[in-house]
Amino acid sequence: MRKFLIAGNWKMNAGPVEAKNLAGEINSWAKDNSFKSEVVICPPYVSIPFVAKEFRSTECKVGAQNVHNQDNGAYTGEISTSMLKELECEFVIVGHSERREYFEESDELISKKTLKSLTDGLKPIVCVGEKLDERKSNSHKKVVKYQVEAALNGVSAKQAENLVIAYEPVWAIGTGETATPEQAQEMHHFIRSLLEEKWNKGVSDSVRILYGGSMKPGNAKELLSQPDVDGGLIGGASLDSGSFTEIISISESISK
Ligand code: PGA
Repeated sequence: MRKFLIAGNWKMNAGPVEAKNLAGEINSWAKDNSFKSEVVICPPYVSIPFVAKEFRSTECKVGAQNVHNQDNGAYTGEISTSMLKELECEFVIVGHSERREYFEESDELISKKTLKSLTDGLKPIVCVGEKLDERKSNSHKKVVKYQVEAALNGVSAKQAENLVIAYEPVWAIGTGETATPEQAQEMHHFIRSLLEEKWNKGVSDSVRILYGGSMKPGNAKELLSQPDVDGGLIGGASLDSGSFTEIISISESISK
């Protein structure tokens, strides 16, 4: 049985003051409500300690949006896995499409970051997803297959216990457009089949595959009800505590 993972990606929003307030709101909801889903917020680096402090009194967890693949040294502007762990991060987003597009992160680099995170005890949320023209030209599965295989290069079946994958069609991110539940299910099922090919059925059944791309309270139920959708990576809607916690409640109402 895979536990839902509801993850908020705040992107470059919510500096320390705003982050503390927003995390405080999520935390008070978490104190008043019981939930079985795992909940994680990935704030900007500078806000991580403030969110982590808020979350100490509940089950909510904190993660980061990126990480470097070296331990330390002359890498100006970068942050290592040990630094994130010191700040109580359990998860880290790796290979988000915005990192691929605006910061030219290659599949090779994403693979190094994935492996480094797993080796050092962080749970990577590895993002994959096709662009609009790739979907239109019917090459979406080919693109996602390549991204999944590249990112997981060198990852062992044992390490996959801590792996999370997020399918985020680029055309659905921040656009208000969402993949239909059928499109999401088809791709999630396909990704799971790739995991089975790489390792075995036991592993592929246990890895959580999140959907990301304009998930909000209005569409969360249909998406999360799909058999291979194990949670959400939520951008815009995670910046509103009411919407985010509503999505957590929706996940609680679904039994699979
Ligand atoms: P969105 O972002 O929910 O605002 O579409 C999702 C993401 O980029 O992780």
